[in-house]
Amino acid sequence: MPVKELLILGEKRLANAGISNAKGESQDLYCYRFGLNQRQFLMEWQKTREFEDCESYLELLDRRADREPIQYITGSQNFYGYDIHVEPGVLIPRLDSETVVEHAIELIKDRHYKTVLDLCSGSGALGIAIAKECHGVKVTFSDESEDAVRIAKSNIEKLGLSKECKVVRGNLFEPFKKFFGNQKFDLIISNPPYIPTNVIPNLDREVKDFEPVSALDGGETGLDYYNKILDSAGDYLKKNGAIVLEIGYDQADDVSKILEDAGFKDIKVFKDLAGKDRTVIADF
Ligand SMILES: C[S@@+](CC[C@H](N)C(=O)[O-])C[C@H]1O[C@@H](n2cnc3c(N)ncnc32)[C@H](O)[C@@H]1O
Repeated sequence: MPVKELLILGEKRLANAGISNAKGESQDLYCYRFGLNQRQFLMEWQKTREFEDCESYLELLDRRADREPIQYITGSQNFYGYDIHVEPGVLIPRLDSETVVEHAIELIKDRHYKTVLDLCSGSGALGIAIAKECHGVKVTFSDESEDAVRIAKSNIEKLGLSKECKVVRGNLFEPFKKFFGNQKFDLIISNPPYIPTNVIPNLDREVKDFEPVSALDGGETGLDYYNKILDSAGDYLKKNGAIVLEIGYDQADDVSKILEDAGFKDIKVFKDLAGKDRTVIADF
């Protein structure tokens, strides 16, 4: 079949399924299936493909038309300029979280912080971007999910960060509780689950049907993890330490209050690129 026709078919298939960027995604899936970069893709238009090749491409389109996120199909999401491997079992890192990373990097550089904990680290995207951008900083990653820990470890290795990064598995601060004084960090960053339980059924199918609910569900108010984390975060921060949290667009006041009650000061809220409250920073 001529590639030109195959691509038109692909775009139509996704458009009919309601995928908004049908053209871009049908081309991305084509490039993924045949291992092409953008330059190689431009040379494809005059070619034809064998029946089996067309079939296997159409199978990928069917998965996407069934609303499987394209990142789970291709196994990859770019975050802060780095290719992060993702698969079902781990949250796909969001562009919004890059603002969290930007603020964390600014703090680390200004204050010469040396140790960072990425709590609820998932694929490791946030901590990996920090380790890549902040030379000499040691980043510890922690997540309760076995899949997340395995995937973060493989991302760290793939990106050549094994010396700077360590991954542990456990419930929030549990792995850092020590008999003679807890392990402490200069900076704690976290993008915990923060979606109220009753909102989850209304999310896009890509999210509610494919991403792990344990990465999304923040309890009845969406604030369960902020309460739990901030209840003891101070015990794991060094003197002059700080915390950087990702929040939902409508959680700034609630999270600021929880921070205040937990003894944090200089609480600041920052917006993401879409102009929504996304990051809270506080000193301990
Ligand atoms: C919103 S996702 C964030 C993942 C990653 N930081 C990112 O931004 O892409 C939240 C993560 O918290 C983890 N998690 C949920 N409950 C946890 C707990 N009690 N202790 C540690 N991690 C937990 C989930 O497995 C998930 O990976």
